[in-house]
Parts: sequence; structure tokens; C-alpha cells
Amino acid sequence: MRIAVIGAGYVGLVAAACLSRSGHEVVCIEKDEGKLAELQDGRLPFYEAGLAEIFTAGVGKGSLHFSSEVAACLDAEVVMIAVGTPARPDGRIDLSQIYGAVSRIVEQARFPQLIVMKSTVPPGFGENLKARLLSRAGVPLTYLANPEFLREGSAVRDWYYPDRIVIGGDQELAVAKLARLYADIDAPVVTMDVGSAEMVKYAANAFLATKISFINEIANLCELVGADILPVARAVGMDRRIGGEFLQAGLGYGGSCFPKDTCGLDFVSTCNGYAFNLLKAVIEVNNRQRVLALRKLRGMLGTLHDKTVCVLGLAFKPGTDDIRESPALDIINLLLDEGVKIRVYDPLAMKNAQRLLPPEVYSASGTMAALEGCHALLVATAWPEFTGLDWTAVKELMRPPRLVLDGRNCLPAEEIIKNGLVYQGVGRPAKPENQPGNIILPKSDRTPFRCQVTRC
Ligand code: UDX
Repeated sequence: MRIAVIGAGYVGLVAAACLSRSGHEVVCIEKDEGKLAELQDGRLPFYEAGLAEIFTAGVGKGSLHFSSEVAACLDAEVVMIAVGTPARPDGRIDLSQIYGAVSRIVEQARFPQLIVMKSTVPPGFGENLKARLLSRAGVPLTYLANPEFLREGSAVRDWYYPDRIVIGGDQELAVAKLARLYADIDAPVVTMDVGSAEMVKYAANAFLATKISFINEIANLCELVGADILPVARAVGMDRRIGGEFLQAGLGYGGSCFPKDTCGLDFVSTCNGYAFNLLKAVIEVNNRQRVLALRKLRGMLGTLHDKTVCVLGLAFKPGTDDIRESPALDIINLLLDEGVKIRVYDPLAMKNAQRLLPPEVYSASGTMAALEGCHALLVATAWPEFTGLDWTAVKELMRPPRLVLDGRNCLPAEEIIKNGLVYQGVGRPAKPENQPGNIILPKSDRTPFRCQVTRC
């Protein structure tokens, strides 16, 4: 089949490369000139495990092409839209890239095409687009919602082994045609109407975000009552009704999806006159988790302004160079506001982070170089290379009180303590002097908290 994919981000590029590997003729359309030049030059514009091999093979055998022109997709039977739908500062979802691409298809379409929406769009958007825009085309354009659940870092694996494939549409033949595209993937295809398919994506992401904020709340409580979140989360997750995934307490979720989609769903709720209070709380808890890290550092270091803190891990999670909505960057900015000197290192995300970090942040060439002369270490991303550090050497490099704040509960606590450093995780038992003190929930512009949790 001839397929066009509009947008060469994580979703678009993985879809394009994997479909070309399945024997389809794929053109991927990217409007960013720099990104397009890299792709046409045979280079990937971002890191994604396993993608380089499939991409290189597709380009090599001539079944994967790149272009900046939407006109390049006019010969395709299927046009997949995988452009960004970022959040605007007021929480609204910016759909301009979709309108831009679809308008051009509508103007130029020469024969019937299947328009497949992979971008995350608010429930109701697809039906609206059909009625207002697609209906104006001179040829029939059939619309299907086909939300994508790929995770960065495991996007290729997730493409081949999804838990389900969701297709929303009211034309059986079109649905069957799209399902055939996924014939080599062993996963149930769940079909429904367009609006419901759009809702599945938001509901799934909001639910996963809820699990994370919930376990972070339990972790905070564990610290206050002297319990340990690790066995608590493990045993809670062993209940099959709950499931063990997404129960890792830490600094909260980041990335290009959860923060945007939780706020987007909150916005959709508000627009429909519904106060989604649980979701608002999930967002607040996630924001607060970053502030609690700062509070812990302040509680354990005393004054912050004369201190140097090493932040290891800048990517929003391990296995990616993506720093979008990364908790590490927010915490660094909070620390800079307090006059802290910051030294950072990340195995993959240094280049991306340097574009955003202020010049006073010292970018080290490696883990040990970043630790030199630091009073405290914050591990913000659970990269495997941080877990196996030589803690004797770390102790030598750091200055008292040699505090290790394990923001992802990924470090060997006992070994660190044995080596004479002070260890503090998230939701792990802490010495009374290490506890951050009363957790006073910060006020928020959007949803002020009405209660305060105090230590009894
Ligand atoms: C997510 C969804 O999983 C995916 O289905 C959707 O298509 C896009 O959004 P992604 O953003 O790549 O994928 O990352 P994910 O692995 O889900 O992690 C999101 C964030 O949650 C990360 O910051 C991660 O560190 C955090 N997280 C995850 C936790 O804090 N605790 C957990 O237990 C799991």
C-alpha cells in the first residue's frame, strides 16, 4: 500500500519506518527544515531504541522517503496524521498543525483517501473536522481515529507488541482496510465510534497519571508514618485488579504526553461544564512532587544559597534524550531561584538540556565530574549507570553533608549509607532529622487546595 505519514516525531517516524519494514511504500512529511535535512541525509533527529536499524533499512531499500510538501501525500491511499498537538499556556490544545495539514489535503486531494488520525485530539474533534473541513473536498475523504499508545524509549517494541489497536470510525470497509495494515501485529483490534476512540487515549493517559500521583501520595505518607513505599507498592501491585506497573514513586511524571494530556482533558471537562476534580488533584500532586524535592534538600542542607547540588539525569525518563516537562529541569529552576550552584549530567540528554538551561548551570562531561565538590546529589532520572556508582569514590568527591536524594528510588540505599553518605529516597524510611517537615500543600492558581496535611 502507498502510505503517507505527516509529522516525523516519535509517533510519525516510528509508524513510517515500521510500515515501510512491513512492505509498504511510505513517504513521511516533515515541515521542519532542519529535521527534514537530517532525515534526507539518513540521520535520525532524536534517539529511539531500535529505530535506527529499521529507518536505515527502509531508506536503503527505497521504501521510506521524506518530503516537506503535503502534496507528496496525494498519491497515498492512506494518510496518517501524526503532528504535534501541544498544550497552550491556558491549557487549550493547539490543533493548528492538524488544521494546516488537513486543509492542504482537502484543497489538493485528487482521489478518495483514508485520513487516519494518530495525533491526540480532544473527543469530538474528529466529527467536527469531518463536518466542517473534510466534507469540502472534491473527492471522498474517509476519516478514522487511530490513537497511538507508544512510549518513548520503547516505541518500536510498543509498535509491534501493543496491548490493543483502537480504531474509531463508522465505515466498516475503511476500518477493515486500516486493520489490514496492522495484520502482522498480534493484538486485538477494538473498534468504536470516532469520539470514543479519541476518549480512549485521554482516559488511558489520565488513568496512568492517576496511578503515579496516587503512589506518590502514599509515598509521602509513608515518610511521615515511617513505612517504606517499595514493599508497599510491590504488594499493592500484586493485586491483579490493580497491577504492578506505574506504581513507582518519585519526582512525578513528565514527558510530552502525560502533562499535556491531563491538562487537555481537564480543559475539555471544563469546556463541557464538568469539574473533573480527581484529575485536577492528579495534576496538583504531580506539580507538588517537584516542590517536595526542593523542600527535602532545604530541610537537610539548611540554607541553600551557598550550596552546590549535582543533578544526575535530565531526561524525563531513562532511555530517551527527551527533556520535555522533565521534573529535573523544574527542580533545577527552583534551586537556582534559591541561589544554589548546579552541576548536571545526563547520558543522552545533555545537548537538548543545554538549549534550555541557563548558562550558570555547569554541564559536566560525566557522572563523576558532575559530583565534584557537591554538597548534595539529586538523582532525577533512573538511568542504569547511576545505580552502579562507586560510592566510596563518590564520597571522596562530595563535600559534607554528602546528601544523596534518590528521586527515583533507584539507588542502593544500604550501600550508600554504609559508605558514610546520607541517603533519602521518596517514601523511604528517613531519620527524623532528614524528614522534610510538615508537608504544607502549596497554593495553586488553578485549583487552590482547601486542606493542609500536617504531621501528627
Ligand atoms: C506515555 C504513555 O505511556 C504512552 O502510552 C503514550 O502514548 C504517551 O505517554 P511516555 O511519555 O513515553 O508514554 O512515558 P511513560 O513511560 O509512560 O512515562 C511517563 C512519565 O511517568 C515519566 O516521566 C516516568 O518517569 C513517569 N513514571 C512512570 C513514574 O513516575 N512512575 C511510574 O511508575 C511510571
